[in-house]
Amino acid sequence: MKVISLINMKGGVAKTTLAINIADCLYKRHGKSVLVIDVDPQFNATQCLMSGKEYVKYLKDGNDTVVNVFDRSFRPTVGIVEGQKVNKPKSLGDIKTYKTLRGFELLPGALDLYKLEMAPGQGREYRIKNYLREKNYDYVIIDTPPTPSVWMTSALLASDFYLIPVKPDPISLTGIDLLHGIISEKTENFGLTIKCCGLVFTIAEAHTKIFKNAKNSITNSKRWKGKLYKNHLLKRVEVARTQLKQEFILDIGDSELKRSLTSIVQELIERTDDNE
Ligand SMILES: Nc1ncnc2c1ncn2[C@@H]1O[C@H](COP(=O)(O)OP(=O)(O)O)[C@@H](O)[C@H]1O
Ligand SMILES: [Mg+2]
Repeated sequence: MKVISLINMKGGVAKTTLAINIADCLYKRHGKSVLVIDVDPQFNATQCLMSGKEYVKYLKDGNDTVVNVFDRSFRPTVGIVEGQKVNKPKSLGDIKTYKTLRGFELLPGALDLYKLEMAPGQGREYRIKNYLREKNYDYVIIDTPPTPSVWMTSALLASDFYLIPVKPDPISLTGIDLLHGIISEKTENFGLTIKCCGLVFTIAEAHTKIFKNAKNSITNSKRWKGKLYKNHLLKRVEVARTQLKQEFILDIGDSELKRSLTSIVQELIERTDDNE
């Protein structure tokens, strides 16, 4: 099982877009078993994978979200014992995932994550790792929030790899060094074994000067040299337009765009391969 977090301290760099489309491509094109975990309290990945109506019903029916991983008593299982309600904490092994219409699995996110008091040092950072201990998917893709938080730490602690989606512009590039600093700090504090499996340019317009400059700056950088993926996720309004309709890049009739995704996924498979 390969656990891969998509990380960037910047919002709007296509972390979520890439996460769900990588999951979709791994499942549809490569026949892999895939679980997506949405640890972003903004739960955009969940919104892309479930309709609003379905999500509301899912919650109403008392189904699980990532909140149950962090707070096992959050949605109590109610039993009647001698006329009294008792809260029975849910064990991690009992947390069920949602099968998306596409076929892969999702542990949905929830706004309720915001409500959880998550002081560091309570061991909650290890919850995703512990949750995944008994699981056996080919790939687990974790979509993370852009803020350094206990959720991000928990994703890093659970992951074998992190992938950095980055917009090819100067401001976005400065963010990746900050990210490197934060991961180095966590690596020290928690003894992480996570490895960077590369950096992907997203929302890219390859013919522009700004793109070429960004590419040069990465390939000439000591730290990021060799990390940049051969292909980049092309900028296309269709991607944004179809997202909340539970549609994916593989559904869009744009072969160049599809190729850009399938090439990224192929490279991800190679970069996370055990024999690498
Ligand atoms: N390839 C693309 N072309 C055009 N727009 C895109 C593309 N990928 C993502 N977007 C749009 O950019 C915005 C940010 O993407 P998102 O995946 O939510 O980023 P993040 O998770 O990093 O905040 C969204 O509105 C999304 O629809
Ligand atoms: Mg996001």
